[in-house]
Amino acid sequence: YRIDKGNHRHFMAKEIHEQPEVVGRTLAHYVNLAEGRVALPEPLPFSFADLTRISITACGTAYYAGLVAKYWFERIARLPVEIDVASEARYREAPLEAGGLTLVISQSGETADTLASLRYAKGQGQHTLGVVNVPTSTIAREASAVLPTLAGPEIGVASTKAFSCQLTVLLCLALHAGRERGVLTAAEERRLVDALITVPGLMAEAVKQEGEIEGLAREIAKARDVLYLGRGTAYPMALEGALKLKEISYIHAEGYAAGELKHGPIALIDESVPVIVIAPHDAIFEKTVSNMQEVAARGGRIILVGDAKGAAEAGLDTLATLTMPDLDPVVAPIVYAVPIQLIAYHTAVFMGKDVDQPRNLAKSVTVE
Ligand code: G6P
Repeated sequence: YRIDKGNHRHFMAKEIHEQPEVVGRTLAHYVNLAEGRVALPEPLPFSFADLTRISITACGTAYYAGLVAKYWFERIARLPVEIDVASEARYREAPLEAGGLTLVISQSGETADTLASLRYAKGQGQHTLGVVNVPTSTIAREASAVLPTLAGPEIGVASTKAFSCQLTVLLCLALHAGRERGVLTAAEERRLVDALITVPGLMAEAVKQEGEIEGLAREIAKARDVLYLGRGTAYPMALEGALKLKEISYIHAEGYAAGELKHGPIALIDESVPVIVIAPHDAIFEKTVSNMQEVAARGGRIILVGDAKGAAEAGLDTLATLTMPDLDPVVAPIVYAVPIQLIAYHTAVFMGKDVDQPRNLAKSVTVE
């Protein structure tokens, strides 16, 4: 694996652009194409059929991958998920059922809090499953089972390709869990696998919005605050969008569940606050449209990250619409990671920030 920037100005740009390839590689590792089903690289030492719930812990971007996965496990596998940031999970003294499962997600496999939460779960007699990018890491060694993300070395401090590969592995795992629990039919699994294997192509499509995003970045760069909104799996994507932007551009950004708009953030809205709405055309799209109307009525400037059908249906004046390809909403988080990352990247580059080495941040937080 070559560690250089290739034709890119920054590692972060290179890592964003290589996502179709690395997500494709990860998928090839987890999907049996001929049978149209998920096939984990190794059997797990437990069955999801025996679990009544799972706990997920992680930090930063990996935590948001876990938050997306919560929606997938609950909907696809009918498995309740409890999730917390590792720095809380390790000290909360939560009662964890012996024989239950704690899932930890980490790019580096070395994050101190995530490792401590894994050790806590082990101490409670739980199975631990690590979704990690560095196979030789401490978490990979200590977890009772490991599912690798095959993103390759990630150099940019702000996680990008590791995140989309984490999502890919977690969606495959949710399908596996759904099958083991007898709640996902073979036909439904095949349909979802078919949707999954289109993802690398869809991500390549999404990258084509880069020119549009570069222009938009000049507008975002003027803002003091940016609000990200989303519902369902687009809610954790809104959180991740806000995190990416603040990490590398130092613009204050907040992610909110769109339905919470009325409970606070609406007070901030005026023409100086760009509102980035992550809204694939899914079952709750209409609800998000009514939130966008509330924003528009207060002079807010909306940047819609959605598909053509949704944009037409919403029929709103937006500052910009980043048109994503049509897709099965289940896989939307993986594809929508691309515009979210590109918005942060181009805003920070336009502002002259050091995107690969943002101030005060470390790639891997190995101390508390
Ligand atoms: C740091 C990095 C983030 C990363 C987080 C968790 O804050 O800057 O990009 O998401 O740690 O790291 P991990 O290696 O556990 O995924």
